[in-house]
Amino acid sequence: MFAIIVSCLLVSACHGSTLRNRRFPDDFIFGVSTAAYQIEGGWNEDGKGESIWDHLTRTNPTAVKDVSNGNIAADSYHNYKRDVEMMRELGLDAYRFSLSWARILPTGMANEVNPAGVAYYNNLINEMMKYNITPIVGLYHWDLPQKLQDLGGFTNPLIVTWFEDYARVVFRSFGDRVKMFITFNEPREICLEGYGSTSKAPILNSTAVGTYLCAKNLLMAHAAAYHIYDKEFRSSQNGRCGITISVHDYAPATNSTEDVFAAEVARQGEWALYADPIYSAEGGFPKELADKIAVKSAQQGYPRSRLPAFTEEEKVFVRGSSDFFGLNHYTGYLVSATTHELVPKPSLWDDMDVRMYKNATWPKSAASWLAMAPNSLYNVMIHLKARYNNPVIYVTENGWSTRSQGGLIDDDRIRYYRAALENVLDALDAGVNLKGYMAWSLMDNFEWLQGYTERYGLYQVNYSDPMRTRTPRKSAFVYKHIIKHRAVDY
Ligand code: NOJ
Repeated sequence: MFAIIVSCLLVSACHGSTLRNRRFPDDFIFGVSTAAYQIEGGWNEDGKGESIWDHLTRTNPTAVKDVSNGNIAADSYHNYKRDVEMMRELGLDAYRFSLSWARILPTGMANEVNPAGVAYYNNLINEMMKYNITPIVGLYHWDLPQKLQDLGGFTNPLIVTWFEDYARVVFRSFGDRVKMFITFNEPREICLEGYGSTSKAPILNSTAVGTYLCAKNLLMAHAAAYHIYDKEFRSSQNGRCGITISVHDYAPATNSTEDVFAAEVARQGEWALYADPIYSAEGGFPKELADKIAVKSAQQGYPRSRLPAFTEEEKVFVRGSSDFFGLNHYTGYLVSATTHELVPKPSLWDDMDVRMYKNATWPKSAASWLAMAPNSLYNVMIHLKARYNNPVIYVTENGWSTRSQGGLIDDDRIRYYRAALENVLDALDAGVNLKGYMAWSLMDNFEWLQGYTERYGLYQVNYSDPMRTRTPRKSAFVYKHIIKHRAVDY
């Protein structure tokens, strides 16, 4: 008891008066996540090729809010030992990071492997292994080699073979030590935001045609990599391969049939478009959304639906192609069928015909889209359990944005993490097959078009210091104690 009180005083963050002491299971994995372009820097060092984010920030610098880029970022290319030291300070079981495709294959094509790029990741993985920190490795977190974008990127069906070849290099190079691979991070953000709007590279804004082409090709590329792992590597390497999908909570604004239907259509458009083909029993794109798009496409004069169908053979190829559900979760929305306030956008949002909004009372973060929606993490896990027959889930990201001048005392972030981890315990009690939780993020990083104006780190990064010094925030101490005591109320 004394220890509990002392640790509460030390971090002065224990909440509530009841120390319920619900514990996380012994085999539950605690980790943190990062992504290559957001932290590595070294953008053109040692033979690395240009990625679409290098290209965008170089050719269109004002696209980023503070006209910044990831050229140096947190400089993890040179600071990886310090990063591993931070993992040890936190007492992590696992670290999820992503590989830069263009660092390993500078042109994107597998004929030319960059040994220095492979060596960088080998060094990082070996350093982690020294301290028993499990690597969870993403193959793609938004930084496509520019040369492949020049050929159409995810709108070119050949992305399937390019990704397949890249995946083989990755499995062969790292699979002796890496036992958990994640093909893609957040297909929705890749396709809808990168191809259907201007919020992510390559900012194509190509209307919903590009979004859906990307969706189908990406799913085929994912499945191709999964099958390669399954057939060529699983028996010798004994690991797992999956995908990470971002799932916000979409709750009907009222119990009316219209709003309940609207919430389901929102789910289908926002994430089930990418998840149903892999995890649903039937496979293929979600029905109600597909029907809506077909009707809209006809009204707009298209001779066929803008959503490209899967053949029966493709459906079977994609269905079941994941060993777990990688869940990125941050927030929730209320959904209503009332569309009169819709802002016209030439994108997928129009196809859904619903209104999504946040309750004004939900605490807001520094990111416009991120508010604390009550029990949203619990709700989505319960939904996934029911929708996909209780899949193995890992929360691969969950986090809170603060302003760049926010400093080291981040009580809002602590409140957010505590609430999320209570949701995790509730979900475990409810029988969700949840195996681990990763906080976003280990340290501050380049937040895409928001640049460095927002911070997500458990560690603050000092960008005015050439060494990019990292300092733990208060939330780092709280997370450390939660991991150590395997309880939210310790
Ligand atoms: C999810 C993305 O995977 C990550 O790259 C991003 O920084 C966070 N969301 C916060 O926006």
